Amino acid sequence: MARGAADRMSAAQRLADLIAEHSEREGPLLPLLHAIQHHFGCIDREAEAEVAKALNLSRAEVHGVVSFYHDFTESPDPRPCIELCRAEACQARGVEALVAAAESAADSRVRLKTVYCLGLCSVGPNARLGDALYARLDRDALVALVEAAR
Ligand code: FES
Repeated sequence: MARGAADRMSAAQRLADLIAEHSEREGPLLPLLHAIQHHFGCIDREAEAEVAKALNLSRAEVHGVVSFYHDFTESPDPRPCIELCRAEACQARGVEALVAAAESAADSRVRLKTVYCLGLCSVGPNARLGDALYARLDRDALVALVEAAR
């Protein structure tokens, strides 16, 4: 669906607001990119250009950061996203044995994203779907979570 002029103006204003909120911070680039990703679901070339201009960086520098970090995407992905922690504490609690079953349940309808710590290390394996955290996951619980997200 094509966005109307009002939507484009609103998006441009929101991007300008996010830039204004972050540009005076110490080390503003990553927090600003996270804010843009969170708000728009991606960081497109237009946003990269605006960020570069505001922070006095080259577009290549900004694009390099966007393309380097898996947290940032250049186009929106409408699929639900389950973040699965595969950091050391969750590995010690068996997350690696759950990955294949989760990937199979996800097929192409759910995006499984590896993250490194959700802050619940003592009760892993852990995952996040939206704002909800899920702890002490076993195979069945993780597959059920993935299937519910589809
Ligand atoms: S290591 Fe998994 S939540 Fe911290």
